[in-house]
Amino acid sequence: MENINQANFWQQHYEQNSISWDMGEVSPPLKAYIDQLPASAKNQSILVAGAGNAYEVGYLHEQGFTNVTLVDFAPAPIKTFAERYPSFPPEHLICADFFTLSPSQYQFDLILEQTFFCAINPTHRDNYVQQMAALLKPKGKLVGLLFDKDFGKDYPPFGGSAAEYRQRFESCLDIKIMELCYNSHPARQGSELFVMMQNQR
Ligand SMILES: C[S@@+](CC[C@H](N)C(=O)[O-])C[C@H]1O[C@@H](n2cnc3c(N)ncnc32)[C@H](O)[C@@H]1O
Repeated sequence: MENINQANFWQQHYEQNSISWDMGEVSPPLKAYIDQLPASAKNQSILVAGAGNAYEVGYLHEQGFTNVTLVDFAPAPIKTFAERYPSFPPEHLICADFFTLSPSQYQFDLILEQTFFCAINPTHRDNYVQQMAALLKPKGKLVGLLFDKDFGKDYPPFGGSAAEYRQRFESCLDIKIMELCYNSHPARQGSELFVMMQNQR
């Protein structure tokens, strides 16, 4: 199971087109969230972490958000994204391990989460929480979707529950919203939580 922490594991999935998690479109709840952001958010610094084929990044770019960054350690989806969006600034496409991003170099108003948390080894969950808090500006927000479901312990996705997430995230982030998502993609109806959490610092 350790190799799920390595880019090669995910890169091979992309090369073999074995990407069952990929919805092929912007996630409906994240689209709805993006659509209600005020015009003043268009210049906010936004990160999509473990972005994969990054439909959310493409959507943000199309909607005129000017300061959007993508991080994923598998090169294949980043290459595909860059080909699909030649006008997207290449310096905002980061092919790196999320856990190595330096908070002194990167600070974000908003970080979007979708099927990244569930892809990392569960033993790294507290690192994820700490790294998210470190990469968020003061009062910055982590917004997205977390599975409310148990998938077993052998292979991603790794699920969880609201109780576990509350206990983990509350060490660094104030939980503003954590509720069953009402507008999930049909394949995920009833199995995910919409979350909005704000940096405590
Ligand atoms: C299950 S996929 C989800 C991709 C995308 N969020 C989506 O919904 O289609 C998980 C993604 O996280 C990336 N990933 C996993 N661990 C990572 C890490 N430590 N740093 C950067 N990217 C990582 C993988 O390469 C993969 O693209």
